[in-house]
Amino acid sequence: MSSAVISTLYLCLMVQLCTSVCLHDSVQRDTHVVSPPAVIPQTTRIFRRSTTWAPHLPLRVTPWYLPGESALLTPSQNTQLQSAVREVTKIISNMLSVHRTEGPLLLNRDMNKYCRSVWGDPSLLNYKRCGSRDISYHGERCLDVVIPDSHLHGYEVWPMIGTEPNHVTLDGVGVPNTDFMLYVRVAQTEKCALQPSVMAYASYCQLDHSGRPVAGVIVFCPKRLRDGVYQHGHIVQVCLHEILHALGFSSSLFDHWIDCSFSGHMCSSRSRVANTDERGQLRIYTPNVMQRMGEHLGVGSVGAPLENQEKATSSHWESRIMQGSILTASLSPPHLTSLDPITLAAFQDMGWYGVNTSVNTRLVWGKGAGINFGLPSTCQERLSGFFCKDEGNIGCHHLHLDKGNCSTDAFMEGCRIYKPLLHGGECWLKQENHESDEIYHSQSRCFFSNLTKTMKNEKVKGRCYLHRCLAPNYFQIKVQGSEWTDCPAGEWIEVKGFEGVLRCPDGRLCLGFDQPPVPTSVSTTAPFYSIFPQISAGIKVQLTIPQNLKWTAEKNKLLTEEVLGVIAEHAGVQRCFLYASTELDKDLSFVLMAGEPNNCPPNPPGSSPHSTFMNLIDYPITYESPHFSTVTIRLPFPGPRNVLSQVGLILGCFGVAFCAILILVVCWCKHRARTLQVRDIYHSQP
Ligand SMILES: *[C@@H]1O[C@H](CO)[C@@H](O)[C@H](O)[C@H]1NC(C)=O
Ligand SMILES: *[C@@H]1O[C@H](CO)[C@@H](O)[C@H](O)[C@H]1NC(C)=O
Ligand SMILES: *[C@@H]1O[C@H](CO)[C@@H](O)[C@H](O)[C@H]1NC(C)=O
Repeated sequence: MSSAVISTLYLCLMVQLCTSVCLHDSVQRDTHVVSPPAVIPQTTRIFRRSTTWAPHLPLRVTPWYLPGESALLTPSQNTQLQSAVREVTKIISNMLSVHRTEGPLLLNRDMNKYCRSVWGDPSLLNYKRCGSRDISYHGERCLDVVIPDSHLHGYEVWPMIGTEPNHVTLDGVGVPNTDFMLYVRVAQTEKCALQPSVMAYASYCQLDHSGRPVAGVIVFCPKRLRDGVYQHGHIVQVCLHEILHALGFSSSLFDHWIDCSFSGHMCSSRSRVANTDERGQLRIYTPNVMQRMGEHLGVGSVGAPLENQEKATSSHWESRIMQGSILTASLSPPHLTSLDPITLAAFQDMGWYGVNTSVNTRLVWGKGAGINFGLPSTCQERLSGFFCKDEGNIGCHHLHLDKGNCSTDAFMEGCRIYKPLLHGGECWLKQENHESDEIYHSQSRCFFSNLTKTMKNEKVKGRCYLHRCLAPNYFQIKVQGSEWTDCPAGEWIEVKGFEGVLRCPDGRLCLGFDQPPVPTSVSTTAPFYSIFPQISAGIKVQLTIPQNLKWTAEKNKLLTEEVLGVIAEHAGVQRCFLYASTELDKDLSFVLMAGEPNNCPPNPPGSSPHSTFMNLIDYPITYESPHFSTVTIRLPFPGPRNVLSQVGLILGCFGVAFCAILILVVCWCKHRARTLQVRDIYHSQP
């Protein structure tokens, strides 16, 4: 790779000059999706609402981190990742609700996989039941994550005649308080390696009876997470984008969206969610989406356009028309991206969710711009005030928080927009030492202007000045050294003491959606002991010290105190949560416990003790003690490693037994072959 290529690549990572690619569609094609065994023939396509009278309750997404993989990140990166995932699950549960099913969530096994043949003779008692097990069956996967058996339904294998199954695998315990199971991987997969700009990708892998996704996987590419520039807001944004795909906004699920709008207990499948319009643009034509899209553009109801620059049917909104939406293929920086009303409408139209219409949404791009907005043929006309013409012109991003550079990308089909500047364009970010009369401040915004004191012919461009809101769409501005000056929306004004003019944007400022980003969100964490239940039962802490010391009770206490402090620091919890329930043993071990946090203030924001404790298992902590020279701390409690090796042992034993049984089964099967018909009764995907 030439250095030019490398530096361009680096630029992409740094500033997303290049679009950050979303792999969802290609990943979804690689994901095997399992549906529950059909209770009614798929052909009727009518679904009984099993729990009509149950209220809609917030959707509970439960993340499940693959043990061991956290080692690819540092404790603080893990903390950052988990706190971002937690924030996203909060956004989701605030936004979406479902009719919850009772009890823990149990995922389905694919009968086509575990069952080699099915009793096919309708006269048999065990008609349609599994007649023989596929010996190559090794459980279910979600993309490349092996789903733990404890999350899965069991299955049975039945003899031709008889009322007792000859094999039973019991149901797992399931996952409590869960409506959607999110397997979280951190792995440098092939896909991560092939697409260096990908931070994460996700797919769904299990559907319920109504077609709603109930489990999925999100893979984070560790290289991108380690990139210092990617902060909390960035991970949250990408994670939310991907999870929205996995929850239903996926082209492969369009055919599964259902219509539950009519009264009664039934939902029906939607006839055609996506269709091509007369111009060849693929659009989503469902009632709420059409209404919201029409309201947004200021026209009658109209389908919402999908990205047409992707190979197959896209799972993204068209970039030219939906800039700033969380579900476009190329995302702007987090503070310029948000949930939008049309995405919300799409989730309403999926039929599976109750949607909280009071969550904050924003879509400024194209507002009121009419039916022809954003067409490649019209975007150059500049009538709408959204697109720009001259490549390289410095203007303002349409939200006026940032200066923008007039440019295009692969999704814009020749249209140009003011993309946020790479460096120094954030008017809202306090900065000093700028030549000119500009002011960078949290209350500053970007204005097109050529205000100057020096009377030379200044070009109109994007500049940062203070503003203050007086009413919606009504504000004043202040230039370095000027008075507050009224700025009537849509007009060019002059400012006393300056030559030149300034344009007051219309419909962009003081409307409640132009807030600058707040510093990294402060997410409070659950109490320590509930996140990491093992510790309330006590964890053994093993210490090593190079030289032999003469131990006294006092030294014991001193060392224990020191070590507790170090552990607390590494785990991201306060010292007051931890105590030693035993005295320091002769072999230098003690039992660590978590106390009731009576006297402890809440955890520091963003901390996630669970993840960091997991890391302590993998990495002993060594520190230089002022009293005891080098101290090494190990937490040798049965963590995932040990559990895994036990599982390995058990599997090994089973393997031997299995082979023996196998030989018997094969003989038996040969004998029975005439009465068994190998036949697919259940299809994983209709
Ligand atoms: C709906 O969203 C609003 C605004 O975010 C929030 O205050 C409210 O609690 C949400 N309602 C539900 C049921 O989650
Ligand atoms: C604006 O973008 C062009 C490429 O479209 C680039 O050459 C130029 O350096 C950019 N200007 C600034 C100030 O970022
Ligand atoms: C500012 O721009 C306007 C419009 O382009 C132009 O008429 C005016 O002469 C410019 N003023 C200065 C001081 O450059």
